[in-house]
Amino acid sequence: MSKTALKKKIFIKTYGCQMNVYDSDRIADLMASSGYIRTHTPELADMVVLNTCHIREKASEKVYSELGRLAQLKEHKRSKGKEFIVALAGCVAQAEGEEVRRRSPCVDIVVGPQTYHRLPEMVVQSSTANSLVLDTEFPIISKFDSINTKLSSAGDVCSTSAFLTVQEGCNRFCSFCVVPYTRGAEYSRSVGEIFSEAEKLVANGAKEIILLGQNVNAYHGIGIDGVEVGLEGLIQYLSEIKDLLRIRYTTSHPKDMTDSLIQAHRDIPKLMPFLHLPVQSGSDEILAAMNRQHTASYYMKIIEKLRNVREDIAFSSDFIVGYPGETDADFKSTLELIKSVEFAQSYSFKFSARPGTPAADLKGQIPEELKKERLSELQGLLDKQQRAFNLSCLNLELPVLLEREDKDKQKISGRTPYMQWVNIQKNQECIGELSNVIITQDYAKSLSGKVSCHSKSELAISSIEDRIQRVNI
Ligand code: SAH
Ligand code: SF4
Ligand code: F3S
Repeated sequence: MSKTALKKKIFIKTYGCQMNVYDSDRIADLMASSGYIRTHTPELADMVVLNTCHIREKASEKVYSELGRLAQLKEHKRSKGKEFIVALAGCVAQAEGEEVRRRSPCVDIVVGPQTYHRLPEMVVQSSTANSLVLDTEFPIISKFDSINTKLSSAGDVCSTSAFLTVQEGCNRFCSFCVVPYTRGAEYSRSVGEIFSEAEKLVANGAKEIILLGQNVNAYHGIGIDGVEVGLEGLIQYLSEIKDLLRIRYTTSHPKDMTDSLIQAHRDIPKLMPFLHLPVQSGSDEILAAMNRQHTASYYMKIIEKLRNVREDIAFSSDFIVGYPGETDADFKSTLELIKSVEFAQSYSFKFSARPGTPAADLKGQIPEELKKERLSELQGLLDKQQRAFNLSCLNLELPVLLEREDKDKQKISGRTPYMQWVNIQKNQECIGELSNVIITQDYAKSLSGKVSCHSKSELAISSIEDRIQRVNI
């Protein structure tokens, strides 16, 4: 029998944001040191981890229906004398704690986003305990200390574009948001720790690193010389890793967009000209009620400053429609802001009242029907802008970092500097290459193109204005 067949198998299902994707990979690393290998189906697994998201009601409810299915599977496995551990990790685990067990008795382990480094010992505990094993503390010693020593990536091939969490938690307390409660207070990792993780990722094949944090531009970590640096300092340092071609960061808060970070978009060529900068609403009244601590014109100033230093920079945002008290006029202001910025892509949601947040109990909750109407109008506008942005790239030659191949290896796809997916017919190209691609077709959510015969590594035309002029001709 092969060694792999003897190993225990773990299935990890990830919900929510990129930080959960990062955490799931680290959970896989940690469990590998306890002899578990990852499998892609719960049926084959000895242990299942649901790494959950609490951000909107829908996200949390999905977890409970999945637990319903797992309860049946667990019964089936146990009837055959097989072990089957169900662990709930992530933000639902943090928010609901023991309550989870009342709704879903099949859960053996509940572990929060800051304590999953304890999972291997919790699994051992669980095999002897008859009761729930739970840890939802916010520990003084960061989980990253354990993660660093267990990072198994050595030897593993990693994806061309890799996530790296540099900052955790949030101190901003927007009135609709659960993150400060589920992830805890803001914490920045040190530059040295991040640098050594980045070097490992690059050694294992990553060409792009996306720096993650719930409020990543609030990053302020201890630098190599012991002096605190901001996100721009970290990016500058990482940009010296030779084989790292691209750096991005997400998600940012407008209030933490400092002038020095803005200038980094001019000064650091590896920093890509695309920024996810959520605004949520274009109405000053709603922004104040949301405790966003800035106005719509402040946001527009940041956009202008960024465009001044990097003409071709493209933007995306998050929007919430139907925040309690949102009037037609407030909603119109959001549409106006969208028109003035012209986003390359965006995410938008109906307000979801989350237990424990200040907005959940406000008067003036908006009826579901009206939220739906507003969302559909807003998404119509955002889709149009995305299409116009994609159209503006037609016939341009753009550097595309090739990231994925389709199953029969006929097509290969990658991203432009502006985060658009481009599909190309595969010829000699390989995953991990940066190819110059002529865009031949635009679609609603992606592009297609062909590899250019000459190999310039710079953008052929690098300004959004040029593209917009083309659209207008
Ligand atoms: N840290 C990021 C995003 C956090 S969550 C930021 O500061 O912007 C991602 C997005 O989910 C938010 O930007 C917001 O648009 C949306 N969101 C958060 N809470 C929500 C709620 N209660 N209802 C609807 N959407 C919500
Ligand atoms: Fe949530 Fe982002 Fe606001 Fe923090 S800044 S409370 S993560 S929406
Ligand atoms: Fe969801 Fe937690 Fe991320 S609530 S969005 S998984 S930080």
